[in-house]
Amino acid sequence: MNLELSYAQSLDAADSLAGFREQFIIPEEHGQQQVYFLGNSLGLQPKNTGPYIQKVLDQWAKYGVESFFMGEDPWLNYHDHLVGPLAKIVGAHSAEVVVMNQLTVNLHLLMVSFYRPADKRVKIICEAKAFPSDQYMFETHIKALGYDPEDVLIEVSPRAGEVTIHQEDILAAIQQTGEELALVLWGGVNYYTGQLFDMEAITRAGHAVGAKVGFDLAHAAGNIELHLHVWNVDFACWCNYKYLNGGPGAIGAAFIHERYHQDKSLHRFAGWWGYEKNTRFKMEKGFVAMESAEGWQLSTPSPILYASLRASLEIFETAGFDSCLQKAKQMAAYLRFLLEQISEANPGKFHILTPAAATARGCQVSLLVKQGGKELFDELTRKGFFVDWREPDVIRLAPVPLYNRYEEIWRFAQVLGG
Ligand SMILES: Cc1ncc(COP(=O)(O)O)c(C=O)c1O
Repeated sequence: MNLELSYAQSLDAADSLAGFREQFIIPEEHGQQQVYFLGNSLGLQPKNTGPYIQKVLDQWAKYGVESFFMGEDPWLNYHDHLVGPLAKIVGAHSAEVVVMNQLTVNLHLLMVSFYRPADKRVKIICEAKAFPSDQYMFETHIKALGYDPEDVLIEVSPRAGEVTIHQEDILAAIQQTGEELALVLWGGVNYYTGQLFDMEAITRAGHAVGAKVGFDLAHAAGNIELHLHVWNVDFACWCNYKYLNGGPGAIGAAFIHERYHQDKSLHRFAGWWGYEKNTRFKMEKGFVAMESAEGWQLSTPSPILYASLRASLEIFETAGFDSCLQKAKQMAAYLRFLLEQISEANPGKFHILTPAAATARGCQVSLLVKQGGKELFDELTRKGFFVDWREPDVIRLAPVPLYNRYEEIWRFAQVLGG
């Protein structure tokens, strides 16, 4: 790697995914395409999103409610278009993935099934400073079960003076809690630092003491390689509006390991959409769950939201998720290289919060800018870079493989180093 623009251009020229950028609407200002590095927040809109949604609207116009059963794409089966591509992205069997609700709702619903405090086994291990919605979910869910969150939650923190969490500290907390541990519910990639955790090791450690293990994959799905089934994860859920470009407020998704699909002992909150599909419309008394992750659905899903997600997933399918991951890694390594060079030339200008090791991060980089951080962020915004500002002093950005270019990373580095 080197610092020359020509090097970035040579990477773009060799990039087999470069053409996929054409399939997205890139924000423009005065006819100039902006540099969008916020795939970790809200992925860009595929050009196909509108037409896919329009098809649903047309079907609705033509067949009304019969669209669930009629037309080019009966809505009753629309879910089938989504689970295959998503299963590849999270490393699951199709039957283990369900597209439903939104992330925080799904966290609550899966807590119903996988957090069953009893006797001594009541504790939950989570990351300190988890995303606020997860914190509020824990607080209110634990209270609803009659427990005090202070007695139940064990938050694993970074060591004094550090910002990321040592993997061995998570494993030690699991071991120490032992038979008091009911659940580990962890973020696959931390939203603030971009730190990626070893989910397989966390799952193994949790299971070794008899606990259940689940993950919030908001910042992991579509960003990093996942093997939820093989890692033996009990459950996971994520939103589809970040790296998966499903649109603002996109319908969420969940993974439930197949070993639970026929487990009648598991509690769940049910609704008619999770009822056995062939007899659902007989409207009979007594809940009979579909024997797949779909059995966790409650309400009639929106085909409009399905269509919005499908438009993006089809791009991932065509591009191939392995190729996306490969480019994501190369982009992250290139960005890291440039940042380290700038940091060396300008000591103290910023500090990279995200771990250096490629195994401990995805696309996102978080920069701590102690002096003049907001001014730097404003300058980046003025110059056409979409990055994210976290008060009081952090800039986050995430170049993604489907619509970002290496040259954009190089240009970002020019502003940062300038
Ligand atoms: C890690 C994490 N968890 C939960 C949420 C909340 O997601 P939702 O608003 O879709 O429920 C977010 C949103 O960005 C998040 O980043």
